[in-house]
Amino acid sequence: MEVQRLDKFISSQLPDVSRSAARSLIRGGKCSVNGRCVRTPELKISPESDSVELCGKTVGYKKHLYIMLNKPAGAVCATRDGLSETVLQLLPPDLRRPGLFPAGRLDKDTVGFVLITDDGELAHRILSPKNHVPKRYFVRLKSPLSEDAAFVFEQGVDLGEEKCLPAVLQKVSPTECYLTIREGKYHQIKRMFASLENKVTYLKRVSIAGVELDPELFEGQARQLTADEEKALLSGK
Ligand code: URA
Repeated sequence: MEVQRLDKFISSQLPDVSRSAARSLIRGGKCSVNGRCVRTPELKISPESDSVELCGKTVGYKKHLYIMLNKPAGAVCATRDGLSETVLQLLPPDLRRPGLFPAGRLDKDTVGFVLITDDGELAHRILSPKNHVPKRYFVRLKSPLSEDAAFVFEQGVDLGEEKCLPAVLQKVSPTECYLTIREGKYHQIKRMFASLENKVTYLKRVSIAGVELDPELFEGQARQLTADEEKALLSGK
């Protein structure tokens, strides 16, 4: 079973408490493990079975964090960028934790659902084209959709390298539709429409693996996934 230093455990689970603050709280007698006061920050605990309290409150254990962010245009899906704001910089302090990264990339001008996590295994599962995890987008186009667009996409568009997997198009208006793809090639949707001599003017990801972007989240806002959303994502629909 995994063990962790007590001060590290506390600061990783409570993003508002820095490692040094955790150390001084522990030394000051504000922490207990399994009901006994502990003053040694370097004590090794087992997060899954030990019960930790800080200032009388239980420190709940979550191995991984899963965050839904409504990405605004202009932010980049990277952990670091010299010039532009990253999606990680948009997170409020209580959702920041070392090891977080965006699971997948949206273009700088694309908006909508970005999953931010520290669970590398899950990210790999969602991103691997082998797993065919559906990602749904709302698309606005410069010109009206051609009659054959849904059929062409359903057959799998040839973008030069290998063929795309079948994609599902749902028309909303002459120049708007939803498109569900099951992989994430570079600029995939823009290139799919370019192959039909059309141009994407607005692109928003609205769901990943059946988990819908919360309509209450304004662009730039983030929240943790609910238990049900987490379950849906982990089951890899
Ligand atoms: N397809 C694109 O072209 N861009 C994105 O950001 C996502 C899918």
